[in-house]
Amino acid sequence: MKILACYSNKGGVGKTATAVNLAYQSALNGYRTLLCDLDPQGASGFYLRIKPPKPKAAREGESFADFAWIAGAIRASDYANLDLLPASAEYRNVDIFLSRLKNRRSRLKKLLRAAGEDYQVAILDCPPNVSLLSENVFKAADRVVVPVIPTTLSVRTLEQLYRFFRDQGYQRRKLLPFFSMVQHGKNLHRDTMVALQKEYKRLLKSYVPFSAEVEKMGIHRAPVAVFAGRDQVAAAYRELWREVEGRVKLDNDKGEDGH
Ligand SMILES: Nc1ncnc2c1ncn2[C@@H]1O[C@H](COP(=O)(O)OP(=O)(O)OP(=O)(O)O)[C@@H](O)[C@H]1O
Ligand SMILES: [Mg+2]
Repeated sequence: MKILACYSNKGGVGKTATAVNLAYQSALNGYRTLLCDLDPQGASGFYLRIKPPKPKAAREGESFADFAWIAGAIRASDYANLDLLPASAEYRNVDIFLSRLKNRRSRLKKLLRAAGEDYQVAILDCPPNVSLLSENVFKAADRVVVPVIPTTLSVRTLEQLYRFFRDQGYQRRKLLPFFSMVQHGKNLHRDTMVALQKEYKRLLKSYVPFSAEVEKMGIHRAPVAVFAGRDQVAAAYRELWREVEGRVKLDNDKGEDGH
């Protein structure tokens, strides 16, 4: 299984929109896909019309460590090949819980590998912070897809993320930044894109434009390709998926599994 995280330490940059639309594309391309909603807000599940599970009477964070609980919490979506691990209110306490464990930075990787054996791709929709959970994400992920709005503040956040990876010894090649919510009419966006493309060699070529169709995901409660397949933003997510798929070398896995 390949694990792709949609992560940024900045809020509201398009992580959830990216996770949902990439997961849909992954499933559409024949990969058995598990979208993991790691944000207690539960936006991914909302977009896929899946209710969060009822909170379990468990000790603080206990269920998170339990393979059976994770496997049992997984829900099918309306789409072929696409399942969801819904958000849990218990993720709020997950840092406290993880901090008590011995292998506290590699816990998520073990859990996902064990609980998600049936999947070829896991896509993680992450909350916007630097925490023990996000460090687990950095360890677990084969690639970290980072939406970057081409503005000064977002670029600063990206620099901080690269620095954090370097200082903490995480593999920087895992990071796949791409431009999100691009508005070509804005000089700042155009200039920032040109500057960053020179600086970051691993920056993805595909980008996602600013589009009202993405906002309408909240009304349709579906990936954009489902209700606006001909729109340029649906094409952008298809292209983004193709590029990410190429970077993570999923084709090998597909062959092995006979798909
Ligand atoms: N390409 C886009 N064009 C226009 N609006 C967008 C685009 N991508 C996301 N949005 C909108 O911006 C808001 C934030 O997007 P999203 O929830 O995907 O970001 P996020 O990084 O997951 O946020 P959070 O940090 O709160 O989890 C949402 O209202 C969403 O509909
Ligand atoms: Mg989000």
